[in-house]
Amino acid sequence: MSEPSAKKVRKAVVPVAGLGTRFLPATKAVPKEMLPLVDVPSIQIIVEECVAAGIEEVIFVTARGKSAIEDHFDRAPELEALLARRGKKEDLAAVRRLTELARFVSVRQGEPRGLGHAVLCARAAVGDEPFAVLLGDDLLDAEVPGIRQLIDLHARTGTGVVGLKEVPVGQEHLYGIIDGERTAPRELRVRKLIEKPAPGTAPSRLAIIGRYVLPPEIFEILETTPAGRGDEIQLTDGLETLCARKGLYGLEVEGQRFDVGDRAGYVLALVHYALRRDDIRVEVRAGLEKLLRS
Ligand code: G1P
Repeated sequence: MSEPSAKKVRKAVVPVAGLGTRFLPATKAVPKEMLPLVDVPSIQIIVEECVAAGIEEVIFVTARGKSAIEDHFDRAPELEALLARRGKKEDLAAVRRLTELARFVSVRQGEPRGLGHAVLCARAAVGDEPFAVLLGDDLLDAEVPGIRQLIDLHARTGTGVVGLKEVPVGQEHLYGIIDGERTAPRELRVRKLIEKPAPGTAPSRLAIIGRYVLPPEIFEILETTPAGRGDEIQLTDGLETLCARKGLYGLEVEGQRFDVGDRAGYVLALVHYALRRDDIRVEVRAGLEKLLRS
């Protein structure tokens, strides 16, 4: 096992090149990452998790048709001038704040060749330092930001860390699943990783949720990782090699997870975030109770 790394995790890679076909027709012209939870697009919740965890630079791995994501975090002089003229101070502050959350960088993934390939596209932007990866389909509402929990374990072990949640029996085939040896109540030394095991073959119910802290060595590994499941370069396959060479930890992340890549999951997340809002909670709760009675 390698020595604890002193290098701070400053950068996060956020793959956003996916087509979002599960949300058609909504995603024909709008990136799925821009679908809102009340009035905040899901990608903003991901970026805010990064910022709350001390990340300074967010690297979007993007594709054609996804420029709304970059625009969301960019200055909007005409809109800002209009809001200023109309005296809409709060809206103006909210719009400006987005541009100051972090440094934003975009790299393109020219063809959809898998999550491992998407991460590899960020190689030059990341450079030679450990980095975080957050997948936009997984939202975590936690007291300590989800990715911060992984960063803290990385600081202690110096190895890569994958975020985990136990999934219900029968759902293992939807995830990367790990097998490992428990070293603390929520921590495991990973022994094995399998991307979306066939039903009935998973070694555990510990699923990789979309949070990772990885050493830069993962890039040279991904460069030679052959296409795997679905004929795509799988990040999970690269992690298997990383695990054998340098060790890898799994952390059962504390907090509530929502799969906004799933239609029902998206609705549940929307309701959750609405009920957390002081301005609409009472009205939404009353409306929901009425709906459930009808
Ligand atoms: C990806 C990963 C998988 C992981 C999942 C978490 O799959 O390949 O290992 O469990 O994200 O959301 P996807 O959901 O993109 O098919």
